[in-house]
Amino acid sequence: MPSAPDSLTITRPDDWHLHVRDGAAMAAVVPHTAAQFARAIIMPNLRPPVTTAAQAMAYRERILACVPEGLAFEPLMTLYLTDKLPPDEIARARDAGVVAVKLYPAGATTNSDAGVTDLRKVHRTLEAMQRAGMPLLVHGEVTSPEIDLFDREAVFIEQQLVPLRRDFPGLKIVMEHITTREAAQYIRDAGPLTAATITAHHLLYNRNAIFTGGIRPHYYCLPVLKRETHRLALVEAATSGSPRFFLGTDSAPHPAHLKEHATGCAGCYTAHAAIELYAQAFEAADALDRLEGFASVHGPAFYDLPRNSGTLTLRRQPWTVPEHYPFGEAALKPLGAGETLAWKAQA
Ligand code: NCD
Ligand code: ZN
Repeated sequence: MPSAPDSLTITRPDDWHLHVRDGAAMAAVVPHTAAQFARAIIMPNLRPPVTTAAQAMAYRERILACVPEGLAFEPLMTLYLTDKLPPDEIARARDAGVVAVKLYPAGATTNSDAGVTDLRKVHRTLEAMQRAGMPLLVHGEVTSPEIDLFDREAVFIEQQLVPLRRDFPGLKIVMEHITTREAAQYIRDAGPLTAATITAHHLLYNRNAIFTGGIRPHYYCLPVLKRETHRLALVEAATSGSPRFFLGTDSAPHPAHLKEHATGCAGCYTAHAAIELYAQAFEAADALDRLEGFASVHGPAFYDLPRNSGTLTLRRQPWTVPEHYPFGEAALKPLGAGETLAWKAQA
């Protein structure tokens, strides 16, 4: 690896896991993503959730209306899997251009109360997805209160993902925002139809970040940051060159006052500096040459989509992350607020 380049040009990247919300909040965050990424998979956990092809297409139009002039950005839409999603909605969704269906175990995270209560209830819908070639995106945590919060991902793999993989051998599955060594190992060995996204914050921080000098709610997301050994396993997976791992920011904006709260919301906002944060993590691992595969190549290959034709250039140009961005009527505190980042994506 040649040492410390001052600029890096990669194929234009995609974000394979993103929350943009709706309304004025959405208008505030979509420009950040559209400035860096050509496409992003849009999570359906609105209130109420996006559960039909028609709702997904209407949401897509609302997102497109927030893309600044002169930027080309394509939102890739998803449906929210509920106990009642009818199997015949899958073909309709596929024909409308919906790219995937998201499984939230009921109660696992922000806006997931409509999620699946028992995988047996959605077998026929999963069969329809397998037939249609529609990938399943998984929030991989069990929700049982008796399982320790930090163990919920590993237990999900054992109890839910292994049987799901066995029962639907032809279904494409993406385990979203993995956070543990167990998940990285599982994905590495699970065959070509199973992949994972990894966030920049799980590559950069371990759980100490949440508790340094007092409780720091802006580092709280789900699945929660884990201990250092897990962070190292994620860095190894992301920089391994394996096509099973690709970029998904899980940028999840919440009003700052609802994160700085007695029961603060889960989610880190990273879209303001997504590729810069990943570049920082890859450079720290001496693996900047692997960033393009992770950010721009492995995702389209898994989803059977073409690679983007444009490029994105990053320059070593230190800049300070603003303390806040506007967010509708509220303020949005970005990850790394007030800190200096080494890389800057060029407009
Ligand atoms: C996400 C959100 O806020 O929508 N929060 C998070 O902590 N990642 C939901 C999710 O992806 O779990
Ligand atoms: Zn998410």
